[in-house]
Amino acid sequence: MSIIEQQPVEVDGDKLMQFVFRAVDEVGATLNAALVVMGDKLGLYRALAGNGGLTPAELAERTGTAERYVREWLNAQAAGGYVEYDPDSGRYTLPPEQTVALTDSSSPAYLPGFFQIALGSVIDSPKILDVARSGAGFGWHEHVHDVHEGCERFFRPGYNAHLVGEWLPALEGVVEKLERGARVADVGCGHGASTILMAQAFPNSTFVGSDYHADSIETARARAQEAGVADRVQFVVEPAAAYAGSGYDLVTTFDCLHDMGDPVGASRHVLGTLKPDGTWMIVEPYAGDRVEDNLNPVGRAYYSFSTLLCTPASLSQEVGLALGAQAGEARIRDVVRAGGFTRFRRAAETPFNLVFEARP
Ligand SMILES: C[S@@+](CC[C@H](N)C(=O)[O-])C[C@H]1O[C@@H](n2cnc3c(N)ncnc32)[C@H](O)[C@@H]1O
Repeated sequence: MSIIEQQPVEVDGDKLMQFVFRAVDEVGATLNAALVVMGDKLGLYRALAGNGGLTPAELAERTGTAERYVREWLNAQAAGGYVEYDPDSGRYTLPPEQTVALTDSSSPAYLPGFFQIALGSVIDSPKILDVARSGAGFGWHEHVHDVHEGCERFFRPGYNAHLVGEWLPALEGVVEKLERGARVADVGCGHGASTILMAQAFPNSTFVGSDYHADSIETARARAQEAGVADRVQFVVEPAAAYAGSGYDLVTTFDCLHDMGDPVGASRHVLGTLKPDGTWMIVEPYAGDRVEDNLNPVGRAYYSFSTLLCTPASLSQEVGLALGAQAGEARIRDVVRAGGFTRFRRAAETPFNLVFEARP
């Protein structure tokens, strides 16, 4: 009996088969997350980059991997359009655009971190299944390392592309203060990509990056040493609602306000640590205010991350407001104003980010 014959009469057989074939593509894409991470970690993309084409044996030889695995991986990559296969020569080529997206970590189009955080989220999904039954949370710190490192590698290209050139200049008077010498707190900084980037751009300013996750802060300290900015950047383990210091010119939160259990408490604390004419820059995932505004590919990715990472992270903490990664401007404004800020506006945006300016 075919799939169509098993269904009630009102089912449109063509639509059903279209959906099934779309799902075939999506299952291939789901598995491809693991294959992209494999290609990245084994150096397969980097070895293919800029080559006129390699056979599986040549690629295996250059990367110290086993030819039989590499051949199968290459065929999956070719079927998905990630590499091109030439049947006459038996060689596989990485096209120029894929070379940039898969090997150039300085490009805004760099993708491996996106796949790495997605794969890490899927690896941890059995634990989310448990908490979805109980209603309990699951902390950011409890995830596999691929979530933490993938997050850093996913966000850094966007920060490189937009933070210094577009987002900070969109805030009133902030670049001038940073050039003269300002005090900056980067709250929920993770591995410190944003903190280090700002420190490199503004050598007269000093920066404190904080995060409640101790392992992330340890990595951030190592990154600051590697970048040669450890003299101007301090990284500390502290929760957003109680980080130390006051008199900051600028406080930043990059893609973390919605992950917090008590974002209103964090907002109140930010206000208390800012100078009277200071600025809070809030970077959040791009989203519209209504569910129907977000029913598109970007919204799909963010709602999925939100189910597996952001919502459980918030629910694991006190209050557990669980804004979700698609909170949108109106809900973020409510949270910021509830913390006591009087001025709030959207300062900039990209297809993936909303950037808000809050002032006391
Ligand atoms: C999605 S990651 C973003 C990390 C970093 N800002 C970036 O852009 O790469 C969210 C971060 O928020 C941190 N976080 C969550 N709740 C927090 C809290 N209550 N206080 C401080 N940090 C928190 C997590 O540990 C994690 O590093």
